[in-house]
Amino acid sequence: MKTAELTAIGPAEQVVRCVDAPDPGAPGPGEVLVDIVACSINPADILMIEGNYATRPTPPCALGIEGTGTVAAIGAGVTTLKVGDKVMSLGRTNWTQRIRGSAEAFARLPEQVDLEQAAMLKVNVATAWLMLKNYVDLKAGDWVIQDSANSGVGVDLIRLARAEGWRTVNVVRRAELVEPLQALGADVVVVDGPDLASRVAASTGGAAIRLGIDAVAGAAVGRLAACVAEGGTVVNYGMLSGEPCQVDAFQFVFRDIRLVGFWLAKLMRGMSFPEIQDLYAGLASRLLDGTIHVGVEATYPLVRIPEAMAHAKREGRNGKVLLRPND
Ligand SMILES: NC(=O)c1ccc[n+]([C@@H]2O[C@H](COP(=O)([O-])OP(=O)(O)OC[C@H]3O[C@@H](n4cnc5c(N)ncnc54)[C@H](OP(=O)(O)O)[C@@H]3O)[C@@H](O)[C@H]2O)c1
Repeated sequence: MKTAELTAIGPAEQVVRCVDAPDPGAPGPGEVLVDIVACSINPADILMIEGNYATRPTPPCALGIEGTGTVAAIGAGVTTLKVGDKVMSLGRTNWTQRIRGSAEAFARLPEQVDLEQAAMLKVNVATAWLMLKNYVDLKAGDWVIQDSANSGVGVDLIRLARAEGWRTVNVVRRAELVEPLQALGADVVVVDGPDLASRVAASTGGAAIRLGIDAVAGAAVGRLAACVAEGGTVVNYGMLSGEPCQVDAFQFVFRDIRLVGFWLAKLMRGMSFPEIQDLYAGLASRLLDGTIHVGVEATYPLVRIPEAMAHAKREGRNGKVLLRPND
């Protein structure tokens, strides 16, 4: 079978290749065998491949944080899954044609779910949802501000917030994104810049925004903090600028702003399998009712993985890049 292999830490388009690997074989007791249908390529995959993530892989090794597929075979004693079920892999080596693992390494998905959309559920949808839920007790009509608002997480956050009755201020770095994000349900869309706080206040009628969500770090998180009401919380979950978080002490000392970090992988380590299954069952229902939908710019078979890596690294995309290992 074909699988992706990391050959060295370095530029993703140069160090990830498609290789032949032995078939994983029949599932043992308590195990299932899954045919992978779709995998997203996330910024975290690229950061890990290039040696810039919290954990550093040791090449040669398998890759791929997200993947969805169908159960091809089950081992003795497996009662929670059956052949043909759609599943999301909870493991982190999904860029391959087939995976064998414990039945508890896979969350069952509804039969009607689109496996490409579900391949973007594990990381980004859960991240958007948990950041909205875990830090500030938002009431109907409350405002949230986020940057990188056209990213996968950002679009999920706009859609989830709207479904809950929360209003969003969305910061982007390209003016052409204003109308498309408004069409998705964004209440306010602004282009980042030095006078961000005054433009946000003018657009929201001076609303008290108690939650800010930042994926950029650098000076952008400081501009976001200035938009948040006194006593509010800013959640940093990314470092797209490659810079450290820069927030003026004024925001902490005089305005009592709280800056916290969010990392889904760590949070999930503290969750039991039933809790994880429940989380994703709830989020999968948001795919089915149309709340969640993320644009896909391109799909690639595994044999073209260097091209897929280069494409996923491009700025100014109009959607995610996916792998379809069995195409
Ligand atoms: N902490 C966690 O647990 C967690 C979980 C999920 C995701 N994340 C992080 O969330 C972020 C978004 O992930 P995603 O999959 O949603 O991204 P994505 O769909 O691939 O979109 C990438 C986004 O990054 C923006 N961007 C790229 N370079 C930038 C820069 N130098 N300055 C400002 N913006 C920049 C792009 O803007 P343009 O379109 O203008 O190029 C686009 O909005 C990533 O940093 C990822 O690592 C963290």
